[in-house]
Amino acid sequence: MSIHGKVGIVTGGASGIGKEMTTYLAAQGCKVVIMDVQKESGSRLAQDLTDQGHDVIFLEADVSKEEDHIRVMKELVSRHGKIDFACNNAGIEQKPTSLIDLDASTFDRLMQINLKGVWLGMKHQIRQMLKHKKGCIVNTASIAGINAVKDLGGYNAVKAGVIMLTRTAALEYAPEGIRVNSISPGLIETEMAVRMKGEHPDYYQKNFVDVIPMKRPGYPIEIAKAVAFLCSDGVDFMTGHNLVVDGGWCA
Ligand SMILES: NC(=O)c1ccc[n+]([C@@H]2O[C@H](COP(=O)([O-])OP(=O)(O)OC[C@H]3O[C@@H](n4cnc5c(N)ncnc54)[C@H](O)[C@@H]3O)[C@@H](O)[C@H]2O)c1
Repeated sequence: MSIHGKVGIVTGGASGIGKEMTTYLAAQGCKVVIMDVQKESGSRLAQDLTDQGHDVIFLEADVSKEEDHIRVMKELVSRHGKIDFACNNAGIEQKPTSLIDLDASTFDRLMQINLKGVWLGMKHQIRQMLKHKKGCIVNTASIAGINAVKDLGGYNAVKAGVIMLTRTAALEYAPEGIRVNSISPGLIETEMAVRMKGEHPDYYQKNFVDVIPMKRPGYPIEIAKAVAFLCSDGVDFMTGHNLVVDGGWCA
């Protein structure tokens, strides 16, 4: 299952799951471009990995802006000449709020970053991949896109949207040699989870922890390894799939 030498993008690579994806893929010999709004932590990660002998750069970019995707793709192609994989992973959480109390600006922001950001990424990544008739995309959805989580109406809806965008792209570009899958993590111990636990401890315990049959959160490395599997040459017939990694939550 080789991924050595592949070139790709990780959005939201400055923190949490994306940071671990970047670190693990780089350790497997991939060349990674991190795309994130967090300049300081993104640059630091790229520098640390470069110091360890890996080929990783950070580009400050907002996934909700089309011009940022165009700029990043231009830089990636001028540096590496091709793109083999893309992990559209950047995302934000929703503060638990009932559907009728959710405000429109929160809903819009979730749509812009978590859903439109994935579509814009795929749009420009696939355009480039079509030139070589080869490529692989993994979008980070969530088990919230499969099972409704109470008081996360906006987040649930956009993550379900990510799963459907993934399936549509898989269908449209399978004949062109491009595979598109999503990954749906359950609760994963990241900065996002720490924020949720700190701000809403009772809600977090009841709705995120108590529901996990394995009785523990997952670790970012457990998602990174599954993403590397989806990006590898060993799974050439796999597309349009939503891979659940959740300690049994959906079961
Ligand atoms: N942590 C979990 O329990 C969990 C579970 C299921 C799905 N997810 C999903 O996994 C992904 C990563 O989450 P995480 O837990 O690592 O969170 P995180 O907050 O640790 O990391 C998210 C990263 O996305 C970046 N980001 C946010 N908005 C951006 C934008 N507009 N443009 C570019 N980058 C942006 C942030 O700067 C950050 O580096 C998200 O899509 C999230 O919805 C997380």
